[in-house]
Amino acid sequence: MSTAVVGKGLEGIVAANSGICWIDGDAGVLAYRGIDIHELAERSTFEETTYLLWFGKLPDRAELDEFNKRLTEARTLDPKMIEMLRSFPRSATPMEVLRTAVSALSFYDPDESDNLHDANVSKSFRLTSQIAMLVAAYDRLRKGKTVVEPDPSLGHAANFLWMLNGEKPSDTAARTLDVALILHADHELNASTFAARVIAATLSDIHSAITGALGALKGPLHGGANEAVMRMLFAIDKEGSDPVDYVAGLLAQKKKISGFGHRVYHTEDPRATHLRKMSEELGESSGDAKWFNMSRAIEKYINAEKKLNANVDFYSASTYTMLGIDLDLFTAIFAVSRISGWAAHVIEQLDDNRLIRPRAEYIGPEYPLRYVAIEKR
Ligand SMILES: CC(C)(COP(=O)(O)OP(=O)(O)OC[C@H]1O[C@@H](n2cnc3c(N)ncnc32)[C@H](O)[C@@H]1OP(=O)(O)O)[C@@H](O)C(=O)NCCC(=O)NCCS
Repeated sequence: MSTAVVGKGLEGIVAANSGICWIDGDAGVLAYRGIDIHELAERSTFEETTYLLWFGKLPDRAELDEFNKRLTEARTLDPKMIEMLRSFPRSATPMEVLRTAVSALSFYDPDESDNLHDANVSKSFRLTSQIAMLVAAYDRLRKGKTVVEPDPSLGHAANFLWMLNGEKPSDTAARTLDVALILHADHELNASTFAARVIAATLSDIHSAITGALGALKGPLHGGANEAVMRMLFAIDKEGSDPVDYVAGLLAQKKKISGFGHRVYHTEDPRATHLRKMSEELGESSGDAKWFNMSRAIEKYINAEKKLNANVDFYSASTYTMLGIDLDLFTAIFAVSRISGWAAHVIEQLDDNRLIRPRAEYIGPEYPLRYVAIEKR
């Protein structure tokens, strides 16, 4: 038996070697393959960033063209998948639908039974395109609309908005989502990525790993937080409450404020810096800065009162709302991005695999406890 006593929630435990993502939680640094997230947010695209995550370097022009071509060609869903989406009860949430549908995608994947490197890369292309399509298609079906065919002339973010809304997005909307996708693409051994690596390490398959990751992402302590943030902002607006009084009331009830705090960052989450800016800009350009102003007031109060910083989820809530995206799609959009990081980690895990099987520190009744016959208990 191991003698190590591990902190609750594996806090501070290093559980893998990885060349994908580096975080300095004290300095507030996040880098993908060594490149700072600020540079990627300002200069890259989701497609180029995904290339970087999967192949370990920035692509040259020809490599990026080929990558875009493969991603665009992967925008297909078997008609049975659409039938399946139609058959789900209208009460099913987008994350429940996505979790179930991604599991079923393996039935139609030509590389389903192949777990070698190249097959996993091919499956990653398909999963990246298909997850975006599934989210958009389900949202339309549940609203009684027809599924929109993908447009090969559009990049990943713009095509997602096109398939979701049935109208071409503005350049601002497409670029805002593109940057949001870059910011959410990877985050080292977060709960969903760890879940994906654990599943992949059993030599199961990438669809199983991503299905497990989706289950983890769905939780309100992980990807579900941005939805909870927006529910709070809507509630404040509906009641006509003062935002600071409202969150002060929540703190008084010992409740956590969604969108604040982080296991790793002790400074501002560098992703929040960009999302705050995008939320502010969307507020200014739309002439309605209500959601941004409300968020900013809450942020200043929580900073001062609890010394907690906004995380990635806080300003993504108001940003997505101002893009016209429904509240219950927020976590699914996180998945539209995070598939790139999950795939990178699954591929890295399988390229140098060993089963992930830790031990538990036993804290139960002392051994040996005698078995007692049922009539004597
Ligand atoms: C992200 C999160 C799960 C990290 O959790 P963690 O590392 O286990 O940290 P803890 O929950 O133990 O929090 C440490 C302390 O800060 C407080 N705290 C952390 N986040 C808080 C929040 N959002 N609101 C109020 N207090 C918070 C806790 O109450 C705890 O205080 P205590 O020591 O007095 O009990 C946590 O900050 C949280 O629940 N945040 C809200 C959900 C969220 O935004 N998740 C998205 C993460 S990207």
